[in-house]
Amino acid sequence: MTTETRAARKKVMAERILVCVAWPYANGSLHLGQIAGANLPADIFSRYHRTKGNEVVMVSGSDSHGTPTTIKAEQEGKTPQEIAAYYQQEFLDCWQKLGISFDLYTTTDTDNHVEAAQDIFLKLFEKGFLYKQTVSQAYCSNCQRFLPDRYVEGTCPHCASPNARGDQCEACGKLLDAPDLVDARCRVCGTTPVYRDSEQFFIRLPAFRDRLLYWVRQQTHWRPNVLNFTTRFLEEGLIDRAFTRDIDWGVPVPVEGFEGKRIYVWFEAVIGYLSATKEWANLQGDPEKWRSFWQDESTKSYYFLGKDNIAFHTIIWPAMLMGYGDLNLPYDVAANEFLTIEGRKLSTSQNWAVWLPDYLSRYNPDPLRYMLSINMPETSDTDFSWREFVRRNNDELVATWGNLVNRVLTFTYRNFDGCVPTYEDMGITDIEGFQTKYTELELRAETTRANLVDESLDNCHFKAALMYAMDLAHETNRYLDEKAPWKTIKEDRKDAAKSLYVTLSVITQLKTMMYPFLPFSSQKLHEMLGFKGRVEDYGWKWQQLQPGQRLQTPQPLFTKLDDKVVEEETSRLGSAY
Ligand code: MF3
Ligand code: ZN
Repeated sequence: MTTETRAARKKVMAERILVCVAWPYANGSLHLGQIAGANLPADIFSRYHRTKGNEVVMVSGSDSHGTPTTIKAEQEGKTPQEIAAYYQQEFLDCWQKLGISFDLYTTTDTDNHVEAAQDIFLKLFEKGFLYKQTVSQAYCSNCQRFLPDRYVEGTCPHCASPNARGDQCEACGKLLDAPDLVDARCRVCGTTPVYRDSEQFFIRLPAFRDRLLYWVRQQTHWRPNVLNFTTRFLEEGLIDRAFTRDIDWGVPVPVEGFEGKRIYVWFEAVIGYLSATKEWANLQGDPEKWRSFWQDESTKSYYFLGKDNIAFHTIIWPAMLMGYGDLNLPYDVAANEFLTIEGRKLSTSQNWAVWLPDYLSRYNPDPLRYMLSINMPETSDTDFSWREFVRRNNDELVATWGNLVNRVLTFTYRNFDGCVPTYEDMGITDIEGFQTKYTELELRAETTRANLVDESLDNCHFKAALMYAMDLAHETNRYLDEKAPWKTIKEDRKDAAKSLYVTLSVITQLKTMMYPFLPFSSQKLHEMLGFKGRVEDYGWKWQQLQPGQRLQTPQPLFTKLDDKVVEEETSRLGSAY
């Protein structure tokens, strides 16, 4: 393969990509389930597309409103604002440390968001998709207040799980309304709620059913679990849903007579994808720029979320967008399955979770990113165990990838004056020939990056993409062992120089492939190899490694973890904190 044919292939115009990441509730620390489910895949995808030269905007924010936050505030004796502001800061800190590269991570607690949410509300109302209706609403006579969905608990009418909430059953994933619950009780005091009349807004979801079904059936590129779940949901038929709640923490309903009511947090949070893009555009000093991401039909929008959030992203939000009009529907909804912890369902209330701030206070970000990527719950639930984490760190990151880099860099650095071997070192006189003719291993690296990893990433198959890159790292290790430059250097220095060059050249391609997954160590490697600036600046293409390029003092990319980590960390699980 020559450089010309390389340049000629896949010459496509830059794409515009909107990356929408599920909004975590601002009511508690982030845990690994959320990272594996939404934030990490979104970040890998964004970094990949930025490297390809595409225009990416990755947005999300804290879901600050509603009962998740008010319940936490009551427990802590704080105001909902204080709780939301506290977690907003903690989340921002986590994103920075874990390298989750949002273009904007905002919150629903902004004037911009309130404006966008009320605008959608009023437009849907104007167009006849919302209507008022008096409903009987759970009321606790002991607490003397209306009970929003999450304040009512009881038995799920679908799966009989005993601890379903009035908005959703976590066990079977079905959306609920509080009156559906069997043996309902007030979550604060346990009293059986009574029902009192209250006027609410409803959305006519059935009005969108046929259009949604028609649209969804065309989305053959969606993951089978997302497509099947959504199709089944639509085929079973939609019902009108209450769009407002009796609560005072949230976006006010912009209609007279509804002063004490708020837009239901779920309907309001999904609007965050749009309001955040507007806020981003404002911050860019180009307030109209959000339009190209929402109104230009060539823009593709990708949504990253956990499977418990599918219906809101494939049915409710698209219905709201259809009702509003003139805004792009999701292109893909890459919902992940769940991450279990040490073989058990993650539970935040039982502290059966690995908390992100804890992890980040003790370990480096890339090993976690590696573990959650190579083991990503894309098509089925996967398990996180500390034993497996330590094993993968030691056997795969340190022993395979890190060791490959380390031994070739240190050996080259010591024996070739801190530089990539020169043409002279390699005994090469036909420079042009050398630059256009690649070894078998280099060709393999080229196809791995340009085809296998590229296609996998483009299709949101993150686990597969990383496996292809790791396969290449393995193969490169084998090549190096076979060539054994540390032996040949004495009898044939030129041959040793050549095999080192080839290895370094393949590592140069690997640092690009690894970059979306392992941004910190790839950047470090990029600099050790003597490249300037950021990995992303060099693009997703073949990177010619210049013979004679000055290297930086090699340092290990990863560190081995002691086995005692397993014991230490597993003992933290489930304990009071
Ligand atoms: N905060 C909700 C959750 O964590 C919703 C997240 S996605 C949203 O389940 F965009 F719709 F907010
Ligand atoms: Zn009560």
